Amino acid sequence: MPQIYNLSTVCNAVTGDCTFLGGMTVEKFVVEGEVQLCGQVTISGAKNATLPIMAATLLCSGVSVVHGVPNLRDIKVMQDILTLLGAKIVREGNTLIIDTTSINHMEVPEHLMREMRASVFLMGPLLGRFRKVRLSYPGGCTIGPRPINLHIKALEKIGTNIKESFGFIIAEAAELAGGEIHFDFPSVGATENAMMAAALAKGTTVIRNAAREPEIVDLQNFLNRMGAKISGAGTDTIRIDGVPKLTATEHTVIPDRIEAGTYLVAGAMTRGDVVVDNILPEFLFSVTDKLQEIGVQIEIGRRYIRVKPGDLRGVDIKTLPHPGFPTDLQAPILSLLTIAKGTSIITETIFENRFKHVDELTRMGAKIKVEGRTAIIRGVPKLTGAIVAAPDLRAGAALVIAALAAEGISEIEHIYHIDRGYDGLERKLQALGARIVRQNCD
Ligand code: UD1
Repeated sequence: MPQIYNLSTVCNAVTGDCTFLGGMTVEKFVVEGEVQLCGQVTISGAKNATLPIMAATLLCSGVSVVHGVPNLRDIKVMQDILTLLGAKIVREGNTLIIDTTSINHMEVPEHLMREMRASVFLMGPLLGRFRKVRLSYPGGCTIGPRPINLHIKALEKIGTNIKESFGFIIAEAAELAGGEIHFDFPSVGATENAMMAAALAKGTTVIRNAAREPEIVDLQNFLNRMGAKISGAGTDTIRIDGVPKLTATEHTVIPDRIEAGTYLVAGAMTRGDVVVDNILPEFLFSVTDKLQEIGVQIEIGRRYIRVKPGDLRGVDIKTLPHPGFPTDLQAPILSLLTIAKGTSIITETIFENRFKHVDELTRMGAKIKVEGRTAIIRGVPKLTGAIVAAPDLRAGAALVIAALAAEGISEIEHIYHIDRGYDGLERKLQALGARIVRQNCD
């Protein structure tokens, strides 16, 4: 009998973090290891570009068309939230048609806020359009405390009055006025939220120490197609000249650099020959550079990157805001380093508590010691299959990669985390020769 959670939410007894399951069947991946991945994989549109763009459609009344939308649980949650706010959404393949003409709610239900951190993006657009929004604190992966103080500070700087009461945030602005925002840390989400709210503010807003991720450039491009006047995304200073009104538009999201990086690492870990296609390689230079240092052979084309086997050796890696090494690929590359010769050191500077895959990899024979924000990895010749559980989205992908290379059979449980961010993971891996199947948990 497949296990069904009738309660819509499962909670971690230690941290209290909850994941909304909506009565879904609980599934696992069963992976037979020691395969060499071989072939070509086509990367989907970026989750982290699509989510703020979906939120940005709220900034106007009309029908926006977004192409290249990946088929993911996080996207479905955002769809559900927009629908509850009054939007009408149709999905045709990888295209979302979002009609925001009848938005009639400015409050996001708590259970949906809790499921996904990206729901905090709704604050900027709803404020921009309606000058009022009420929402609870957002959820997401349990990768450490994820405060929203920078979002709040930025919105206050452009004239928003924010009250917090009984776990809810109530943000109101009689009038949004351009202002100077300086971030202590280049937060991706706070930069995006500020851009969206300031697009409809009176006057000019300047964001300094802005995050520089490619997804922020994609958001700028989308907003400018709507009629916004924004420049500087991709640098640490973004200028937004507010406009009175935005109009619906059509846009194709950029490819997912984190999904691409995951397949590059999977190819490298299985000593395979994999072409990762439909990508913008310049977004992945920090990753290809490290893979080369590890000993992987890399070929870079205009829209693809190919990995070929080499002798793997240990390296040191520090996660940093873009263009540094992405925190979202820390877990996958840690898996690779477990079988690289010598010692590697990974320092995680973006999120606390992002080494939750380490205990699971240890079950597979990896030798890793964690001290605070640093993991010391001593390479072993081979991992061995085990029953493990995905602790969060990227850590889950890291376990799948490890299982592909390990001797014997592995089972990866809690794969609802992985479904949040990888479009057709097992289908794409199977096409590369992986022996991976999705099964209901007993
Ligand atoms: C986004 C990405 C996520 C990625 C992360 C860093 C989306 C949907 N998610 O998340 O995949 O791992 O960027 O590249 O795009 N912080 C504060 N106060 C705030 C906001 C953030 O202290 O108000 C801290 C966070 O706790 C964290 C760091 O800043 O330590 C980075 O967070 P941020 O860049 O905001 O990440 P997200 O936008 O949540």
